Amino acid sequence: MTEELDHGQTPATQGSRIDAYVDRYAARATGMVASEIRALFAVASRPEVVSLAGGMPYVTALPLDMVGELVSDLVTRRGPVALQYGSGQGDPHLREQICDVMRLEGIHAGANDVVVTVGSQQALDLITRIFIDPGDVVLAEGPSYVGALGTFAAYQAKVVHIAMDDQGIVPESLAQTIYALETAGAPIKFLYTIPTFHNPGGVTLNIARRQQVLDICQRAGILIIEDNPYGLLGFDGEPMRALRADNPDGVVYLGSFSKTLAPGFRVGWALAPHAIRDKLVLAMESAVLSHSSFTQLAVGQYLTTQPWREQIKTFRELYRERRDALLDALESLMPPEVTWTRPAGGFFVWATLPEGLDSKAILPRAVAERVAFVPGTGFFSDGSGARHMRLSYCYPEPDRIREGVRRLAGVIDQEIQLRDTFGTASARDHQGVDTPGPDLA
Ligand SMILES: Cc1ncc(COP(=O)(O)O)c(C=O)c1O
Repeated sequence: MTEELDHGQTPATQGSRIDAYVDRYAARATGMVASEIRALFAVASRPEVVSLAGGMPYVTALPLDMVGELVSDLVTRRGPVALQYGSGQGDPHLREQICDVMRLEGIHAGANDVVVTVGSQQALDLITRIFIDPGDVVLAEGPSYVGALGTFAAYQAKVVHIAMDDQGIVPESLAQTIYALETAGAPIKFLYTIPTFHNPGGVTLNIARRQQVLDICQRAGILIIEDNPYGLLGFDGEPMRALRADNPDGVVYLGSFSKTLAPGFRVGWALAPHAIRDKLVLAMESAVLSHSSFTQLAVGQYLTTQPWREQIKTFRELYRERRDALLDALESLMPPEVTWTRPAGGFFVWATLPEGLDSKAILPRAVAERVAFVPGTGFFSDGSGARHMRLSYCYPEPDRIREGVRRLAGVIDQEIQLRDTFGTASARDHQGVDTPGPDLA
């Protein structure tokens, strides 16, 4: 008899992956599923693989020595505050500084309406928590940010996608969908949108459509959640004016220091109308009591002492060079049937494969050829997107990007030949949201 049995434990569950509590989970946990492509990405993170999959900012471009000094100085000078609990709403001085950052996008707001969160991801979670009952409808672009879809699934929201083209969300599609849902009596709780440098679409909502989207939602009484982590990473000209700048009462704005400084601080925020802000603070306190005082003060110190606008310019130039490398390589190497978006900022290009190709089926072959991307199905809640893939240019050096595209073009070329010889590959059934993991979000 084994020692385990002597102790009265069940051998079947010892060190195995069998879940003894499988029938005890809350219903909402059924929406939390790890992606079947996660295992593949473990392979894709090997150095020989060019990853066009990851959404990780290139933090190596930060003056890391300076960040080290700043953090050490913070502990020495302000340790008793930095290492203490803080308020649920966030450090007041940082909230003032956040208002300065948002002013670059035309937003004039008071620090009192800002709630500091653990990345904008937590803001998304809190917003969903306070608005969504199971079955409620959330409108979102199709495709949409995988981390948001995961959150909506976790709270059992029903995501209805709105068509998007190279100018962003299509207002007519938004209006028609709202009308159809209202006629059917479906409760729409909010529109979740990434108007600027979309993840994964790489497109930006044009100025005329911004006003139309605001008008449509205002008429229908639908709150807009404007998720804007990439807004300051535009490659041409001045930052776009945020939706929130033109409708303070109808928009909750989500911002983040993850792409303009570093995601490791996990500092983001929500700017919300008063009543929603109050609920967010209570939800924040129930989730984490208070955000880390340490990282909030570190970000505040960075903004006070460092030329942060210059650093954002450095990031913009770096990402512009990488965007150019990706677009040039796609232009010269991809088979002519493949199309893609041309981002004016942010991290991502959204590519569309020819009829009959399935990006998820192609991924294992691509990884075998040492290149990775994220298949399009991860960005839809309804199983569509098989003909699309997200290619990110934020992390690899330009030469690696070109090499990655060369490998990928070879794989797609072969797939086209296979299709022409054997006919259309049948896309596998897809259920639920693929969550490829934080580094790929
Ligand atoms: C559109 C979008 N929203 C939110 C986030 C979450 O960012 P964070 O929680 O790091 O602020 C990301 C991260 O990639 C994103 O792309």
